[in-house]
Amino acid sequence: MALDPPTSDISPAAAPLNQKLVVRALRKSYHDVVALAPTDLDVREGEFVTLLGPSGSGKTTLLMMVAGLLEPDGGDLWIDGMKATYAPPWERGIGMVFQSYALFPHLSVFENIAFPLRMRRVGAAEIRREVSRVLEIVQLPHVADRLPRALSGGQQQRIALARCIVFRPSIILMDEPLGALDKKLRDQLQLEIKQLHKQLGTTILYVTHDQQEALTMSDRICLMNQGRIEQLGTPEEVYFRPRTVFAADFLGESNILDATAVGEVGGFLELRCNNSPGAPIRAPRPGHALGRDVRIMIRPEQMLVGPPDGGAGNTLPGILRETIFIGGTTRHHIGIEGGQLLVSVQLTNPGAAPLRAGDKVNVTWPVLSTIVLPAAPERRS
Ligand SMILES: Nc1ncnc2c1ncn2[C@@H]1O[C@H](COP(=O)(O)OP(=O)(O)O)[C@@H](O)[C@H]1O
Ligand SMILES: [Mg+2]
Repeated sequence: MALDPPTSDISPAAAPLNQKLVVRALRKSYHDVVALAPTDLDVREGEFVTLLGPSGSGKTTLLMMVAGLLEPDGGDLWIDGMKATYAPPWERGIGMVFQSYALFPHLSVFENIAFPLRMRRVGAAEIRREVSRVLEIVQLPHVADRLPRALSGGQQQRIALARCIVFRPSIILMDEPLGALDKKLRDQLQLEIKQLHKQLGTTILYVTHDQQEALTMSDRICLMNQGRIEQLGTPEEVYFRPRTVFAADFLGESNILDATAVGEVGGFLELRCNNSPGAPIRAPRPGHALGRDVRIMIRPEQMLVGPPDGGAGNTLPGILRETIFIGGTTRHHIGIEGGQLLVSVQLTNPGAAPLRAGDKVNVTWPVLSTIVLPAAPERRS
């Protein structure tokens, strides 16, 4: 059997065809404010990708350009292999959920959900079937006849979700959809949205400034800072292998020490803490220029506090300043030479010999949990 050579109008280098969403050099400025520096992003079919970053980092700008609600200054994007940079929103097969529920207040729940189907001229019987289907999915089968104001905030957001999924969008975009809800409801809806994602298999691009939410929900986190992607990876990668101080600080709690790389021993990097002249600290991943200033990052849960003579791995002497019992976990604050405070968080061990504030202690942590970061924020120009 003869096979035709594959043909395509779109150069594979510009738009990998196996991706749901491809963004290349997309950018947007407002006068001299760079809302989004030239940005690349690939999202796979069925993936849950979260844009995470502080307020003003460019998350909404990127999302709105993917939605077709904001025109880019340059760059391109492809959805399902089709160039969509300037396509109108309704041709992109995209569903959106915002923080404000944006339900029509004068329409019943049924009519709110039916709206995108009526716009697409779907027949009445199918509309009835589809609206019931999605009301079941969001677990509110009994509210079809109510007006939005007769529902709680969490219920309204579920209806907004139902309206978004009813026409089976190719990608769902969500911009801080749980931002207006209280913590308990937010936690619950996080799990529901994740469940929904599994059930429908739809690609989701989600925006939040809440790191816990990003860790809980995402296949990959796209960490944004000042209009750029700071780091892109699985929650585990970004948490355990942050590449910058910003990433280490934004995702979870971190201890950061100024240090100098002084040598290499047995495949490990040797570092000296600038304000604690004790034994050298070892870290994996050599390749950092010797003599350079760097920063060392250690997660609080990797740090153990013990008697001054004990401990394996990396060790720093210090004074225990404070012990805070938080139930299942206990926090220790340890002052090291130079006055810096380190934080250790460990599971509470009721049988352990108690340490007292003022005690001399050693903080220790595994060599493999020692992350070396560039001292100054690295910026590609
Ligand atoms: N319409 C606009 N006019 C001027 N500046 C804007 C406008 N929209 C966004 N910006 C600026 O662009 C930057 C990124 O904004 P945005 O994408 O909304 O951030 P985020 O969603 O991460 O909070 C911010 O500095 C913001 O002030
Ligand atoms: Mg925003």
